[in-house]
Amino acid sequence: MRIVVTRQIPEAALVVLREAGEVWVSGEDRPLTPDELREAVRGADAVVSMLHDRIDGTVAEAAGPQLKVVANVAVGYDNIDVPALAGRGAAVTNTPGVLTDATADLAFALLLAVTRRIGEGERLLRARRPWSFHLGFMLGAGLQGKTLGVVGLGQIGQAVAHRARAFGMRIVYNGRSRARPEVESALHAERLPFRDLLTTADVVSLHCPLTPETRHLIDAEALGAMKHTAFLINTTRGPVVDEAALADALLRREIAGAGLDVFEKEPEVEPRLLEMDNVVVTPHLGSATVETRTEMALLAARNVAAVLSGEPPLNEVRASGAAS
Ligand code: DGY
Repeated sequence: MRIVVTRQIPEAALVVLREAGEVWVSGEDRPLTPDELREAVRGADAVVSMLHDRIDGTVAEAAGPQLKVVANVAVGYDNIDVPALAGRGAAVTNTPGVLTDATADLAFALLLAVTRRIGEGERLLRARRPWSFHLGFMLGAGLQGKTLGVVGLGQIGQAVAHRARAFGMRIVYNGRSRARPEVESALHAERLPFRDLLTTADVVSLHCPLTPETRHLIDAEALGAMKHTAFLINTTRGPVVDEAALADALLRREIAGAGLDVFEKEPEVEPRLLEMDNVVVTPHLGSATVETRTEMALLAARNVAAVLSGEPPLNEVRASGAAS
């Protein structure tokens, strides 16, 4: 069995894959180009992919009819044309669960950083600019008694909401379906129509998967509906936010700030956002802990091993399934 891995992954996962077949790992320190990807997957029974690999029908065709599984090392799988793969009899898997806490921690880190002006304060000190303590110096926004609006109350959204509860915040949420009663009651969470969430929340945190319906969910109109004092946090996928509209809204002071881990055209970032003190940016670090990345790669490898040994995959995704 030939297993193609499109980017370096932790050794522990390679050990699992080597027991399942002959493993080829890209030696590039960058994503493969679409042509390189099609070339690399020729004859593959399994592909271990990353979020920057666009796996569509042309890639499946290049692999050949023996392709059995594409294991994405991510919970999101908007980079994969699942129906095209299903049409060729190949399963698609993702890595839910193992990155929930790491991603929720990062979302909360961004929330704290932007509301308490941590990046701005650090830049001030590093620039060796003069400063002195006084009661009006660099005041931020407190969280206690404020409202967190969670868009997509899946595993990660719930984990962020639990953290927010510990900070004394009230939880409102919006999603395709109502959360289970025990989830709502554990979080004291109230489901609101999307527009009401926008007008109510002091912080809006995005945890919905990227789908045709959620692309540019946060557009100029949505940003205009938010409170002038509200903050936007995005740790899901960049295209859920219209980045140019966000820069416009921030410049017009329609919202107070943003914490962003993901971007519309990664690795590029809308340049105006990088000039703003009330924007905190990180380079897609949601799941970036040693432990979590190892667990993600291991889970992808176990999915490959299961399928290649004729067993059902552990985390198969369906064409219309949610990622978060
Ligand atoms: C995911 O899992 O979808 C993240 O974006 C990558 O860690």
